[in-house]
Amino acid sequence: MTEEPERPLQLDASRAEALARAVELIAHAWRSMDHFRPEEPPLDDRVLALLKDHLPEAPSPVREVLDDAARILDESIAQPRPRYFAFIGSSGLEIGAIADFLAHTYDINLAVYAAAATEIERQAVSWMGEFVGFPATGGAFTSGGTVSNITALAAARERALPGSRADGLAGRRPALYCSAEVHYSVVRAAELLGLGSAAVRALPQDEERRVRPDAVADAIDADVAAGVTPIAVVATAGTTLTGAVDPIDALADVCADRGVWLHVDGAYGLPAATVPSVAPLFEGLDRADSCSVDAHKWLYLPKACGVVLVRRQEELGVAFSHEQGYLPHQRHELHAVDFTLEYSRPFRALKVWLAFRAYGAPAFRTAIEQNLRQARLLYEEVLKHDDLEPLAPPPLSIVPFRHVPEGARDLNAHNFELARALQVDGRVYVASALIDDRVYLRPCFVNYRTTEEDVLALVDIAREVGEKLAG
Ligand SMILES: Cc1ncc(COP(=O)(O)O)c(C=O)c1O
Repeated sequence: MTEEPERPLQLDASRAEALARAVELIAHAWRSMDHFRPEEPPLDDRVLALLKDHLPEAPSPVREVLDDAARILDESIAQPRPRYFAFIGSSGLEIGAIADFLAHTYDINLAVYAAAATEIERQAVSWMGEFVGFPATGGAFTSGGTVSNITALAAARERALPGSRADGLAGRRPALYCSAEVHYSVVRAAELLGLGSAAVRALPQDEERRVRPDAVADAIDADVAAGVTPIAVVATAGTTLTGAVDPIDALADVCADRGVWLHVDGAYGLPAATVPSVAPLFEGLDRADSCSVDAHKWLYLPKACGVVLVRRQEELGVAFSHEQGYLPHQRHELHAVDFTLEYSRPFRALKVWLAFRAYGAPAFRTAIEQNLRQARLLYEEVLKHDDLEPLAPPPLSIVPFRHVPEGARDLNAHNFELARALQVDGRVYVASALIDDRVYLRPCFVNYRTTEEDVLALVDIAREVGEKLAG
């Protein structure tokens, strides 16, 4: 009998020991996220020393490296903490983290047909459509809004300019229509799809920061008269800056009259379309050609997990399908790479599928409604204080406000410094944003761990630190 060769990649401890330590560290991390922590720890000496290491030649004990990993993670800014209010966070929902661990253990590649995982991805795509109220016949899981938007717009380009994926634009002049506050990923999509960022018509908004449908209609008509080909209208369902929801139904009318693709970028806001108090804002979503929604934003799951949904699956095929010797089609009609941008893709759908199964859709609606209430609570609290000034009532869960202490000369400099000072202080984490040339603190509520107490703490701490800065 020949002897088993020793495998080159061996840990110094058994799998069971490594797993047991990992589980202890994960349980500790989850416990530490249940409540806010009063400060962000600085990088300690151990981490600073590790940062000086060159490529390791000698192995280290697995327990030591796991403990170092936990230390590094603990000294990082983690979005799931309940007082993380910056940008649009994600919550690392436990079932999602477990799903990722399981999925990565099997390391299935969703580039090609993968039996049950492929079928579950299809089902999860369909569940997501059902959840937000979009009649999807297809779509795919992506790394997030950026890839979802470019995927949908690639299909829109191919519909508007058939053959452009092969021939390029061949002298044709395209245009995309959207709000002036569209997410940059749409501009990036225009750049990467060869339309050029100059082809993006960033159009005026109404007093609630929603793109004006008349401005979109006029821009399309003027372009068509000048020989420009409209590729798509992008409605944003929850802008990144303030949470404004463009009037989807009116934009669907504009698009229907002119035969233009309507894409809804709901990366942030679309999960709220299912919540009764704000559902009317999303009317018309079911008339769009495609939409983007991120489970790693307002569905609380860990990154990276976006979904692009399309009304007609075959239009993704027109934009992405191809023949290669290494990808034979004889057994399955299409591989995932025939309708997605990426090749190797992890089984992202599992975390959405598991989360919907483990909690049921209504629990997500309740959690989103809670975040909406927190946003309204913050707005009302801000109104109670003479030294605070809100931007406007929040349409969704973003509530920009600024500190206006008596006698402050440069409010922009003050609020910019205040955001920085709050981040150093560490009790709350909030970022600043520039809106209408004014600097605001821009908290966003998309975390199921956040409580009303956390919301009120943001007001108290912002005023306390702001006063100290001003004084
Ligand atoms: C409206 C909108 N679209 C797209 C994106 C990009 O999403 P991702 O970071 O998941 O690529 C964001 C990110 O915040 C967003 O708010």
